[in-house]
Amino acid sequence: MKKNFLLLLLLGLISTSCSDNSQTNSQIVVPTKHNKDLTLSQIAEIQAGLGTIMVEFGHRFHIVYYAAQAKNWDLAHYELHELIEAQEIAETTRPKYAKQLKEFEEKYLEPLNKAIESKNWDDFSEKYSQTTKRCNACHAETGHPYIQYKLPKSPPLVPSMELK
Ligand code: HEC
Repeated sequence: MKKNFLLLLLLGLISTSCSDNSQTNSQIVVPTKHNKDLTLSQIAEIQAGLGTIMVEFGHRFHIVYYAAQAKNWDLAHYELHELIEAQEIAETTRPKYAKQLKEFEEKYLEPLNKAIESKNWDDFSEKYSQTTKRCNACHAETGHPYIQYKLPKSPPLVPSMELK
């Protein structure tokens, strides 16, 4: 009887301390070298959202085209891979877009990647323009019809990177 009581008391203490932990985890303070402590919750809030990732999309998608045109398929492949990695960050930080982003990856980015892997310019250029249309359709669907990606007429100015 006494043993059971002690066991119950122990379980009670463990579960109270667990729930306390989950409530205070976001308040855990982490020091930074900039003379300011940040809570886990502040750190979570400053992770890249879709807007930041999209600036990266514009940049990398531009390079993908001109790298492929210059037959630098390895660079095109690398940039598309990095673009997909960036998209995966947005799927985590902005879950409301995760479904559309995953679908975009499967239906557009993967076929574009296959064209790059097979070094097929005609296929690449067709897939690139289909992907561009989908980029802009998604902007309209998400309430940003004024964001229209348009491939710039000249290759990107990428300091320290040769396209050819
Ligand atoms: C899930 C739908 C979706 C897809 C797919 C998508 N975008 Fe976006 N994009 C957005 C949203 C939403 C914004 C506005 C950002 C925000 O709300 O924070 C945006 C913003 C942008 C911006 C403006 C960034 C700025 O602030 O200067 C660019 C450039 C851009 N997207 C390029 C692209 C390109 C290129 C593609 C295709 C390779 C693409 N996007 C695919 C949803 C999408």
